[in-house]
Amino acid sequence: MFDSSGAPERPPGPDGYPVIGSFLAFARDAFAFKTRLSREYGPLTYYSSLGREFYQLNDPELVETVLVHRNEQFGKGELFHDILDPVTGDGLLTAEGDQWRRQRHMVNPAFHPDRIAEYSEIMVEETTAMADSWADGETVNVHSELMSVTLDIVSRTLFGMEVEDGGTISEALDVVMDRVGSPASSLVPISAPTPGNRAFFEAIDDIDDVVDDIIERHRAESIDEDSVLSTLLTARDDAGETMDDELVRDEVRTLLLAGHETTALALTFSLFCLGQNPAAEDLLVAELEDVLGGDRPTMADAPNLEYTEQVVEESMRLYPPVHGILREAKTDVALGGYTIPEGATVNLNQWTLHRDPRFFDDPMAFDPGRWSDDLRESLPRFAYFPFGGGPRRCVGDRFAKLEAKLVLATLYQNRHFELVSEPKLSLLPSITTRPTEPVLMRVHER
Ligand code: HEM
Repeated sequence: MFDSSGAPERPPGPDGYPVIGSFLAFARDAFAFKTRLSREYGPLTYYSSLGREFYQLNDPELVETVLVHRNEQFGKGELFHDILDPVTGDGLLTAEGDQWRRQRHMVNPAFHPDRIAEYSEIMVEETTAMADSWADGETVNVHSELMSVTLDIVSRTLFGMEVEDGGTISEALDVVMDRVGSPASSLVPISAPTPGNRAFFEAIDDIDDVVDDIIERHRAESIDEDSVLSTLLTARDDAGETMDDELVRDEVRTLLLAGHETTALALTFSLFCLGQNPAAEDLLVAELEDVLGGDRPTMADAPNLEYTEQVVEESMRLYPPVHGILREAKTDVALGGYTIPEGATVNLNQWTLHRDPRFFDDPMAFDPGRWSDDLRESLPRFAYFPFGGGPRRCVGDRFAKLEAKLVLATLYQNRHFELVSEPKLSLLPSITTRPTEPVLMRVHER
């Protein structure tokens, strides 16, 4: 574990250049860079970039160790906080320690299976309204349409009301995600008064205006006493204090953003993959005819929509909406035969593991049918982890899975989507995996 000088020995990895390390290779194509590392250097890889030390984990057991068994030894870390604090403040995604525990406890009930079942009608209703607004033969940008419908769904279900200006959120999110995903932006501190940084903070102000409007309307109209927003506004800590306004705002911002973009991406990628795989679409439609018999999908149908679920799982395998997770070692941690030094960044990549031929035959093929019970049983637990894992696992995983299933079922029940865009997706590795171009599909009524 130590070399002759007594310094901890590093795992293998690319040499990179002096000072900038592997920054250029990463900036050129982060997905290709991480994939190369995962295929060439074994279970644990080291590289540096702009003076920061990275340890990339290419083995499901190591991922499990970090997220589950030794999660106490890792925090979200400086890099994660630099990127996300300006966006989600001290909300659930970014909070740490006892504050995180208290917030998770408060938010959890909104995601209890019984509550989620109550949301199903809204999910189907909003999707039906969106699909009814399209003319037969119309070409739509499915990514932006799905962003809008998932925003309406999360807002109605969790906050008891519609967002009045959804377009603002989507435009602001484009600016935020472009800044975070652009490698050049990591060369400029976020506090520097550049045009890009100014646009970034203006976009966050725009998101805040929408969030403030939701909170004010909720206070004024006492909407849905059971909503998670009511819980946040009325909860008291041990000293009897309510949550301060800033924290309520951070939490609403977190749930609004984390709660819609990822699911919209899972759905966009599902439509995109189905558009290229007519045989999979035929199987999906056959299941919908069989299970729904022409009726609108309901909660009761969800367990029987098995192939629909496999479509979502398979598209999240090939195109995970969150392509990687970052952690930082709080102390020196022994891992995979090496020592991860305190302060080093650990990165775990859904992108590379989900496409790893050791775990998935013909990994680049879109094959929903591969998700048989046999595969589920034989797969190492963290070879597939679209929702992360351990205590910081996605709080909205069940919500997202039900939503994706019901939205797909509603859309494909009596429609066919023909891919108009290029057959290859161009993706930006931001916090999420974002298409850089509109994803265009022509809608045909069946
Ligand atoms: C397909 C859809 C989704 C995907 C792929 C996804 C993915 C993830 C992942 C990977 C994490 C863990 C991040 C980490 O460990 O650093 C996470 C956390 C989180 N997600 Fe999701 N998510 C989805 C949908 C949702 C929805 C629908 C909501 C809320 C309505 C939500 C809210 C959150 C929150 C609040 C956290 C932080 C949880 C905590 O740290 O306690 N997500 N999500």
